[in-house]
Amino acid sequence: NHYVIIMAGGVGSRFWPVSRTSLPKQFIDVLGTGKTLIQNTYDRFKQIVPEENIYVLTNHKYVTLVQEQLGITDMTRIIGEPAMRNTAPCIAYACHKLHALNQQATMVIAPSDHLIQDTHQFLEDVKQSLEAAENNKALITLGIKPSRPDTGYGYIQADSLTLPNFNAFHKVSAFKEKPDAKTAQQYVESGEYLWNAGIFVWNVQTILGELEKYEEQLNAIFLYGKDKYNTAEEEEFLQQYYPTCNNISIDYAIMEKSNLVYVLPVDFGWSDLGTWTSVYGLSPQDGEGNVLIPDANNVILYNSSNCMVNVPSYKKVVLKNLHNYIVVEANDTLLICPIDTEQEVKQVVADAAKQF
Ligand code: GDD
Ligand code: MG
Repeated sequence: NHYVIIMAGGVGSRFWPVSRTSLPKQFIDVLGTGKTLIQNTYDRFKQIVPEENIYVLTNHKYVTLVQEQLGITDMTRIIGEPAMRNTAPCIAYACHKLHALNQQATMVIAPSDHLIQDTHQFLEDVKQSLEAAENNKALITLGIKPSRPDTGYGYIQADSLTLPNFNAFHKVSAFKEKPDAKTAQQYVESGEYLWNAGIFVWNVQTILGELEKYEEQLNAIFLYGKDKYNTAEEEEFLQQYYPTCNNISIDYAIMEKSNLVYVLPVDFGWSDLGTWTSVYGLSPQDGEGNVLIPDANNVILYNSSNCMVNVPSYKKVVLKNLHNYIVVEANDTLLICPIDTEQEVKQVVADAAKQF
């Protein structure tokens, strides 16, 4: 009764120009390890859930990429969404579809673009969460100890109350998605908050109940399709109704509102690899603090330090007297910017998209 839903439909715009709409970061080997982020994600879950129970939901334009990268032959396990509507519609659809297959399903909802260093610990935590969710009406999320007031995450306040027989799972008293900088600062200083890792575990009955309660309209759309799932009519239903869903993430739609949220505090070396700084922090540096990806053979450095360089291997690059910079080239586009201004890259991408 255990299933995994991998969400792979996001765009990852802060990794531009390497990550872009035609090739988002989940399909890239961001750290230069030989496998893409989604390949690593899939390989991890294969160790604890039968492959036929692992589904990938993505935008229709990435279906072929997913198939190629994961080598999946059963195309019913790769689902292409006809429109980009963020994670709540994706999850609502997946849950209704699974319910049609197996009313007892307990599932992991997983992002496709995270780095997890300690696979063994991660899988232990996931197994324990599946067991807890099987036996309790609980929406479980994995919580990470925050290391900085990052505004790109959800923040979770944990209560001392725990699930019966599963004492590691704490009731969540507040869930705040992407707070402003000042609030994030207060949360981190208080020491009471965890980051939401965006990895959820629940029983299909529990999540459908909460969707009905807090996202009536969204729930109604996918309830309407219930006789069509896993039949020849599913595709047509999706084409017609998926685009009518509101664009909203599961965090705002359900996690901020539900009273059934529980958190398992975890520590398995997690990074959502959201930015070049996070890649920088996780990669081996040379003596001057430079990180060169994929390798150093085509880059010559003179008196340069703390730079993050990611250029194609056919390109010859010379850095002279450059400190604390990102130098990234991909897809005919070269980006050079001070490392500490990289959060602004999101705006740059929007402007660049209009001009190039
Ligand atoms: N199938 C599908 N369809 N997948 C999607 C879609 C969609 O429309 N939109 C996003 N995804 C995928 C992304 O590819 C990613 O793997 C995952 O869903 C999460 O989406 P993000 O867009 O990366 O969310 P986020 O990083 O801003 O925020 C979430 O993750 C944080 C941790 O990394 C939230 O859950 C935060 O609360 C959390 O802290
Ligand atoms: Mg993310």
